[in-house]
Amino acid sequence: MGKKLEGKVAIVTGAGGAGVGGLGVVYAQALAAESAAVVVSDIDGEAAVRTAECIVSTGARAIGVRCDVTSVEDIDAMVHAAVDAFGGVDILVNNAGLARGKWSEALILSSEEWMEILAVNTVAPIICAKACAESMRARGGGVIVNQSSNGALMDAGAYTVSKLALNGVTRVLADEFASDNIRVNGIAPGMMTAKLPEEQVRTLLARQTVQRQGQPEDLVGLLLYLCSDESSFMNGQTVVIDGGMARSPKQ
Ligand SMILES: NC(=O)c1ccc[n+]([C@@H]2O[C@H](COP(=O)([O-])OP(=O)(O)OC[C@H]3O[C@@H](n4cnc5c(N)ncnc54)[C@H](O)[C@@H]3O)[C@@H](O)[C@H]2O)c1
Repeated sequence: MGKKLEGKVAIVTGAGGAGVGGLGVVYAQALAAESAAVVVSDIDGEAAVRTAECIVSTGARAIGVRCDVTSVEDIDAMVHAAVDAFGGVDILVNNAGLARGKWSEALILSSEEWMEILAVNTVAPIICAKACAESMRARGGGVIVNQSSNGALMDAGAYTVSKLALNGVTRVLADEFASDNIRVNGIAPGMMTAKLPEEQVRTLLARQTVQRQGQPEDLVGLLLYLCSDESSFMNGQTVVIDGGMARSPKQ
């Protein structure tokens, strides 16, 4: 096991692996493999506990908690669970998100659906950050990583709106948390684990300079960089990792 994050406590939201992508699971495993104690959180509590048990079976430290990131009470309980189990919070990975599918449309969505995607993808990272800040301050600082998407740079309906706004959240929180020594950066993956129809994969590959679909592991190096002191001079940025798909703004 690596020691890059020894002594650190990390929360990863949406890490139960209940969805199709499972990026949160890979993130939680990667942080634990670098010796962080990990709070695996998900709206599906059983899935969160399963992921945590899997991590614990490798000899690392983890707990699973149910947390709907649109609920302030759930978020507060998640942070309390981190403090109770591991003494505090140093790293927050805001990974939970409503992915493409129907969210790739704008006009067909009802106002309730708009509120839902913005609540999960855009507002929840702010509320989770606020909830973790007190513990991070008490521990001398912290790191927040927001999971964006290269969809923020394209035309993918409500998903684009929510992730582009999240990139703004990353910049604004980096500014407002600066005096607390809490850094905030983002990762914007491209076509990773999404199970897309073959035809769509071919179209997307044609836009990439790297001719393969991404794997969750392609994101791990950046995640660990952003969560460690190696990136101590970096703040408010969202880094695109998408095989070169989003190199021009609109395609
Ligand atoms: N998979 C990809 O190719 C890809 C590409 C770019 C960006 N992303 C982003 O990465 C993140 C994870 O994507 P994924 O593909 O692994 O998704 P996923 O659907 O596999 O996982 C999302 C997780 O979030 C959880 N979740 C949903 N609503 C929640 C809520 N209200 N509170 C707490 N948890 C909730 C789900 O239960 C699920 O476990 C998302 O933010 C997504 O937008 C994914």
